[in-house]
Amino acid sequence: MKFFIDTANLDEIKEAYDLGILDGVTTNPSLMAKENIKGQENIINHYKAICEIVDGPISAEVIATDYEGMIREGEILAALHPNIVVKIPLLKDGIKAIRYFSEKGIKTNCTLIFSAGQALLAAKAGATYVSPFVGRLDDISMDGIDLIEQIRVIFDNYDLGTEILAASVRHPVHILQCAEIGSDVVTCPLNAILALLKHPLTDIGLAKFLADYQKSL
Ligand code: E4P
Repeated sequence: MKFFIDTANLDEIKEAYDLGILDGVTTNPSLMAKENIKGQENIINHYKAICEIVDGPISAEVIATDYEGMIREGEILAALHPNIVVKIPLLKDGIKAIRYFSEKGIKTNCTLIFSAGQALLAAKAGATYVSPFVGRLDDISMDGIDLIEQIRVIFDNYDLGTEILAASVRHPVHILQCAEIGSDVVTCPLNAILALLKHPLTDIGLAKFLADYQKSL
C-alpha cells in the first residue's frame, strides 16, 4: 500500500519524506488556505516547492467547476511538473474532464467521492485515482471503511486500473483497515503515520535493553 501525506505544509512533507516511506502528496484548497498560500502565483510556486521535496505523485486541485475551466486549470497544473496529478471534483463536468485528461495521458485524482457509484463512473472515465473520503463518512455516522471495501470488490470484478486512494483517513486504525482491505493508497496527516510507530511495549522493552546494557559496562 502506498502512503501519501495529506497536507500542504512543507515541513511536514519533508519530515514524512525523510522517513523514507512516503510515496506521494495530496493537497486541497482548504489545506493550501491553512498554510496561508494565497494568489495564483504563490499557489503555483507552492506546488513547485512540493515537487522539489517529493519524487512521487502530487495532487493539485482545480478550483473551476465547469468543463472548460477545469481543462484550462488542469493543463496549467499538469505543465508544472511531470509528477503533478490533476485533482478534479466528482461532478458531471468533472467526469468529462477526467476523460479528456485520460486521453491526453495526464494523470487525475477524482476527489469528493462518497459512493461506489461515483467511484465507478470516475474509473470508467479513466481516472488514475479515486478518492473516497473515509473520515467524512464516519463523521455523519456512515462507515467510510465499508465504502473502500465495496469499491475494492467492484474494481477487482472488472480489473479496473484506477487506484483506490483512501482519503480523509484520520488515524492509524483507519490506515490498518485500508491495508487489510487492499486499498492501493492511503492519504493522511503526518500524525496518523507517526502514530503507527508507537507501542508501549516497544518503549518498555527498549528502556530495559538500555538499562541492562548499562549494567554490563
Ligand atoms: C483528500 O484528498 C482530501 O484532501 C482529504 O483527505 C480530506 O480530509 P479531511 O476530511 O480530513 O479534511
